[in-house]
Amino acid sequence: MRLPLLLSIFVVLSCNRKISYEETLEDFNAPLKPYNLQVPEYFSRNFRIPADNPLTEQGVALGRMLFYDKRLSADNTVACASCHQQSAAFSDNNRFSKGVEGRTTQRNSMSLANLLWVNRFFWDGRVSSLEEQVLHPLSNPNEMNISPQEAASKLQRLPEYPPRFKQVFGSEQITPANIAKALAQFERTLISSNSRYDRYLRGEYKPTPLELQGMQLFFTHPIPEIGLRGGNCGDCHIGPLVQGDPTGFRGFHNNGLDTDADLQPGLQAVTNNPNDRGKFRAVSLRNIALTAPYMHDGRFNTLEEVLEHYDQHIKMSATLDPLIIEASNQIRHDENAPIQLHLTAQEKRAILAFLHMLTDSTFIQDKRFSNPFIKN
Ligand code: HEC
Ligand code: HEC
Repeated sequence: MRLPLLLSIFVVLSCNRKISYEETLEDFNAPLKPYNLQVPEYFSRNFRIPADNPLTEQGVALGRMLFYDKRLSADNTVACASCHQQSAAFSDNNRFSKGVEGRTTQRNSMSLANLLWVNRFFWDGRVSSLEEQVLHPLSNPNEMNISPQEAASKLQRLPEYPPRFKQVFGSEQITPANIAKALAQFERTLISSNSRYDRYLRGEYKPTPLELQGMQLFFTHPIPEIGLRGGNCGDCHIGPLVQGDPTGFRGFHNNGLDTDADLQPGLQAVTNNPNDRGKFRAVSLRNIALTAPYMHDGRFNTLEEVLEHYDQHIKMSATLDPLIIEASNQIRHDENAPIQLHLTAQEKRAILAFLHMLTDSTFIQDKRFSNPFIKN
């Protein structure tokens, strides 16, 4: 009778040992080391790190622990990383994500790459800083369902956290604001810049003819009158970050998913402007092949479906983006004709090849971003 008891104690102990976090950063009296952020030169310099939350090695490491710690949820079952998985470029592959007690989110999880260049967070842009954003999933009843204050008290009682908070923020007293700051530090380091597209931009990769054609189509607004063919995508998913213009709300558009009757409020919920009805953020398409399903409500399962949408199934509504209304590869003689891009099947394959060029396989394997509680 004794042996099984001893064995079970041993098993519990060894499980505990697995989640005790050790790394090279164990000296809690060492001075803070600035984090060396590597930003490729062709990414915009127009990003801001708040003066009161500079990146440090120790702060980023603390944020990484918090990001992967399920104890940050009401019932210890859900971490940020549950819905933001590294293998899926920090989104997940569910239409809606599972939070505590099997509840589900109302929108599709978002990829967390290159957030330094995002100024308006969430699909509808309702939050304007990462420090503020972090507190939303904590208190959201469908996600982690814990008040930020409760989360702070919970961490206070775990031996591994107070010394780390003291080292990074100068006080053992854990606060929601400092939890948010540490998580934001980690999130700012999630830079994805090693896709084939990046290597092409750095002159290190020669695209296949199909990729090259796809890239051209992606970034070209069609002008059928002069025979210029284009897919129009780069009108909204712009520049090397292939994302909506980060200035104010300029990167928010209605991309024709619904008719007036079905339009969600989208950006209108934030600005109260009826002209913003049905507008969502034109999110970055980096790593897009890894983040299915697609759109704010995960309605499309594949990139092929997304392309069919833009090519054939645009729905007319009062706020539909003019860049979509007037984009076609055929001259429109009839005002009432459906809005279609008229890409050929071969052109769609080319755009698809370009979208796959945006996959960064080193980003999803980068040890600096992986679960620190799992030893390799
Ligand atoms: C239960 C699933 C779930 C959990 C847990 C979760 N998220 Fe999210 N996250 C989402 C969904 C869904 C969205 C999009 C929500 C929306 O737009 O309304 C999102 C959006 C975000 C965004 C916005 C990205 C952008 O480009 O605008 C950030 C940042 C983020 N989450 C970080 C976190 C952090 C940090 C945590 C942990 C404290 C966390 N999330 C926990 C599901 C989750
Ligand atoms: C008028 C602006 C606009 C144009 C043009 C445009 N998009 Fe988008 N795109 C958006 C917006 C806005 C969203 C988010 C919509 C939503 O979720 O409600 C989006 C979403 C997407 C998504 C899903 C992203 C995700 O993470 O789920 C993909 C993929 C995509 N677009 C690809 C393309 C391609 C390919 C083209 C060209 C054929 C294109 N887009 C043209 C504005 C645009």
